[in-house]
Amino acid sequence: MKLDVVFSPLGLLPGQATGRTIFVIDILRASTVICAALHHGARAVLPASTTEEALRLAQTIGAPDVLLCGERGGLPIPGFALGNSPLEMTPAAVRGRTLVMTTTNGTPALLATQGAAAVYLAAAANLSAAVAAARDALDARGEFMILCAGRERSFALDDAYAAGRLLGAVLGGGRKRAGLNDAAVASLDLVRRYGAAWERPLRASRGGSDLVALGFDADVVDAAREDVYPVLPVYHERRITAAPPPASLL
Ligand code: MLT
Repeated sequence: MKLDVVFSPLGLLPGQATGRTIFVIDILRASTVICAALHHGARAVLPASTTEEALRLAQTIGAPDVLLCGERGGLPIPGFALGNSPLEMTPAAVRGRTLVMTTTNGTPALLATQGAAAVYLAAAANLSAAVAAARDALDARGEFMILCAGRERSFALDDAYAAGRLLGAVLGGGRKRAGLNDAAVASLDLVRRYGAAWERPLRASRGGSDLVALGFDADVVDAAREDVYPVLPVYHERRITAAPPPASLL
């Protein structure tokens, strides 16, 4: 068994993603937003690393159903149709649309997974679907990795706590720690520290308090709602789509 948590894409060594099953977490807010968009009927989400790349991509696709979304400094990007709030991803706004998205930390984390065998997104919003997929990966391949988007390329409490929740649910109550890297052990310890209520660690994180200061308190509340957007986003060939639910959830 090999279960690794990586606290930021900068912590990924060259080749470390190759052939792995990876769960990317940016609970505040990109992975929550993508779950909301796909759950409410978006056809796909295309991550872009910069605003310029997002504009180019949208222009290349050129279809009338493309929507630009994302944030810089937490705020909507001028000229983009949507920001980076899960509450904006309503069925009326996103059903049947392809979203081209760029965010500060979430989309770079996704783009860092090049060479992985499979890439999924996880958050509180889709915890059960992510846990089922992680259990399947563990049964089939004996491994998975959780890649936290982090904040400004370093550790973020909100993502690390979410990694611990995913890992803890997969491992069950047991104390088996063989095969876990130190970041995985630390993530599990964070869950012991904060307990089962998501909102506490989200609010204690720098990302959470910055969002509250910007007026996005409701987004923190939404990101703390377990299984509210029960989809399994899968990232493949630069597109994120909703994967069929894992067999163990059917
Ligand atoms: C990110 O990708 O950096 C975040 O989702 C930031 C945010 O939501 O403001």
